[in-house]
Amino acid sequence: MKKINIAIDGPSAAGKSTIAKKVCELLNYVHLDTGAMYRCVGLKAKLNNISYEDEEALCEMLKNTEIVLTPDGKIFMDGEDVSEEIRADDVSLAASDVSKHKNVRSDLVKRQQEMAKDKGFIMDGRDIGTVVLKDAELKIYLTASAESRALRRYKQNIELGLPVTDVETIAEEIRQRDYQDMHRENSPLTKAEDAIELDTSDLTIEESVGAVMSYVEPLVQEDA
Ligand code: DC
Repeated sequence: MKKINIAIDGPSAAGKSTIAKKVCELLNYVHLDTGAMYRCVGLKAKLNNISYEDEEALCEMLKNTEIVLTPDGKIFMDGEDVSEEIRADDVSLAASDVSKHKNVRSDLVKRQQEMAKDKGFIMDGRDIGTVVLKDAELKIYLTASAESRALRRYKQNIELGLPVTDVETIAEEIRQRDYQDMHRENSPLTKAEDAIELDTSDLTIEESVGAVMSYVEPLVQEDA
């Protein structure tokens, strides 16, 4: 089978990481969750009392920040496993805040491009198809209604043992983050011209994975 790279973009909690992980298992590919990297920046800024608005201080901090995404899906920051901590709701908003800065983005984009310089990667985020992996063989733009995304995040928080707020509060945070991610000046979330849009509001995870695989299969045939 031919190896390709797959870019998955879309708003928060649309199922990008869950679907990417499952497709990776089927293809034996490596998943790179770029949102986790912005979350690490948000978390470290929060812990060090660095303002999310202070681009210079954030970039200075990044110079001494190691972020490692392991093949089994764990996230290490400066040698510490922060996989669960970075999923807290306040860190989600912090990640969205720090991600609007041009120089924070260029630092992380460079790291992401270095990680996926070969084939066999599925990378998910907001600017993968438009900036990071512009030449990915397959680009998927995953969407779902804010309500169904809020319900998924609510269930995920319970599963992870994170503090839980009500679904409407989560939906409001999701709308706020969508707005911020779509309207920022630098690499706003937008569907790449050559991306395939997939609305997962009424799809199960298995159905979504099946839909993605139906786009992957013709591309990985040896004679494709
Ligand atoms: O995918 P996520 O919800 O874990 O991402 C957290 C935040 O990081 C998101 O609100 C916007 C930002 N982000 C980004 O700007 N670019 C990416 N490629 C991935 C995430």
